[in-house]
Amino acid sequence: MVSVGIVGTGSYIPENVITNLDLEKMVDTNDEWITTRTGIRERHIAPKDMPVSELCYQAGLRALEDAQIAPEELELIIVATMTPDYAFPSTACLVADRLGAKNAAAFDLEAACTGFIFAAATASQFVATGMYKTVLVIGGETMSKIVNWEDRSTCILFGDGAGAAVLKPVKEGLGFLSFELGSDGSGGKLLSQPAGGSQCPASLETVGKKLHTLQMEGREIYKFAVRIMGDVSMKVLEKAGIMKNDVDLFIPHQANTRIINAAVKRLGISPDKVVINLDKYGNMSAASIPVALDEAVREGRISEGDTLVMVGFGAGLTWGACVLRWTKVGLKT
Ligand code: ACO
Repeated sequence: MVSVGIVGTGSYIPENVITNLDLEKMVDTNDEWITTRTGIRERHIAPKDMPVSELCYQAGLRALEDAQIAPEELELIIVATMTPDYAFPSTACLVADRLGAKNAAAFDLEAACTGFIFAAATASQFVATGMYKTVLVIGGETMSKIVNWEDRSTCILFGDGAGAAVLKPVKEGLGFLSFELGSDGSGGKLLSQPAGGSQCPASLETVGKKLHTLQMEGREIYKFAVRIMGDVSMKVLEKAGIMKNDVDLFIPHQANTRIINAAVKRLGISPDKVVINLDKYGNMSAASIPVALDEAVREGRISEGDTLVMVGFGAGLTWGACVLRWTKVGLKT
């Protein structure tokens, strides 16, 4: 098996900002409640005519530039999203076309907020086995298009954005050291978009009842998240044979500062090693982790040889984590 690493990253966040004060004018909420319960201060929202494929294209373009790779070199593109442009064609096919990635197979993967970890794990198998050498993984969401802007318990939480990573073979001992993935469909109803699929096709009634918007049992998801973030992080470290003291940077899914703090406390990781950007962006689902990774890289928080842990959880229910020994040096292939 070939070692696989991330040799370039990129992200794209739409310009338009909605602050907590803006939300006060839309629903019965207040800045103090949102900040103390979630840590979120503002979120970015894509314009009505901007689909998720546009965010993914922009993030992908930046990742290719960072990795100094031409679109024609890509052999596979995986887009993790739960807010695709269409049920079909896949968003990945649309992004491949925009990028001019003529030699790439492309497909979408849906694991909600854990999507980027699932997609990175999937992509890395193709590279590890030698089937492909250059793969683009993107996590992108337009959550603003599926939240119910009249529901204060959910609309305050989410934002739009996309993050991308280029995967290539790297020197042995570097790159991904371990992955841990899991799912439990019995918790599917806790977080879902009930209508618009084959279970409940679109009708005037489903639209009237706003069943095409995100529905969530917040408290149950909270309890699940606190437990699973710690569990899966410990498992993935054990798999990689890494002690928690040797972790240089912890990049968790950005849903709620209280969830992150509880996981970090349980793991015993120093808070200065934790990436938090949800105050600026809210929960961007599959985009949260790759955007946080890209920002950490660009802010100079990650050096060659550093050990990173990325961990996510989400609808499904799903969860996943990876340990990555950082190198941006791809092998000449
Ligand atoms: N503003 C003011 N009050 C509010 C708001 C709001 N925006 N939303 C809820 N409240 C009220 C509730 O009505 C309730 O009032 P009551 O006590 O009179 O009934 C009170 O605040 C407390 O509500 P809780 O739901 O118990 O608040 P909690 O502390 O659990 O925080 C939150 C809610 C922030 C949603 C939390 O449960 C959470 O973060 N859950 C996890 C959500 C998550 O991570 N989802 C994403 C998963 S990833 C994916 O796949 C997309």
